[in-house]
Amino acid sequence: MISAAERREQLKSVFEQARDCTRCALHQTRTRVVFGSGNADADLMFVGEAPGANEDLQGLPFVGQAGKLLSKLLEEIGMARDEVFICNTLKCRPPNNRDPHPEEIEACSEYLHRQVELIRPSVICTLGNFATKLLRRDQTGISRLHGQEEVRLIGARVVRLYPLYHPAAALYTPTTLELLRADFRRIPELLAMGDPPQPEAGPDEPVEATDQLGSAAPVQARRASSSRAPGDGARPSPGGPGDGTRADASDGAGSGVGPPAHGAEGSMVPEETSAQPPPADQLCLF
Ligand code: URA
Repeated sequence: MISAAERREQLKSVFEQARDCTRCALHQTRTRVVFGSGNADADLMFVGEAPGANEDLQGLPFVGQAGKLLSKLLEEIGMARDEVFICNTLKCRPPNNRDPHPEEIEACSEYLHRQVELIRPSVICTLGNFATKLLRRDQTGISRLHGQEEVRLIGARVVRLYPLYHPAAALYTPTTLELLRADFRRIPELLAMGDPPQPEAGPDEPVEATDQLGSAAPVQARRASSSRAPGDGARPSPGGPGDGTRADASDGAGSGVGPPAHGAEGSMVPEETSAQPPPADQLCLF
């Protein structure tokens, strides 16, 4: 069983690979690869849609208005950002904050799979349609799924998958915000349930060579085995049209993420006023 420290080192290696990634055309327009940030051994992981303008400049996820809301919602349930791991479906910003394309999601999915495998969260909150549709391998929209947890196999890891509205969709829609807040309140209960039973092989060994990012159907309880090593210390494309996380708010109350094709984070995520000089590509681990 590999230790938390070893998993953290491996996560850094995956980051090094992602930093030079040219698997899709987004490498031509990105400023920084936004790999993710937070606790490399988090029980709770958030997966958003894609970096916006601020994230692209800073190399860190959720640093704009949607990120501030995410931090606030975490605080309201007694948690801090440095306890969780936050990343996105895409690690590079789509130009003008357009929706992710299916081939970009596919090309990037291995990084997300590796992150889940190495961080070993118990609970993954998908934020909006793109992450939810990808990790569930199903086109059902977030307005139908939000707040309903299910046990799912994501690569080699069985997790409690908990779809949530994207914070950007909640920024200017009070009813969505209240739904998101109510769903957030259940997170501590899900975390208290601990790891779902894991596949017998454990996450250090390949379980299935095929579906790297989620089984087609929810996983029934398997033989219980703790995945943590002793001493271990978060539009008909996969997102569907009008996903609404960085931009619009279709699909009922909006479900995707990502700024619209204008402005830094579009109408839902206003431009940050304090643009910072771009630092080196970042993997901010706690
Ligand atoms: N929206 C996202 O989905 N991710 C970010 O990092 C910022 C906004």
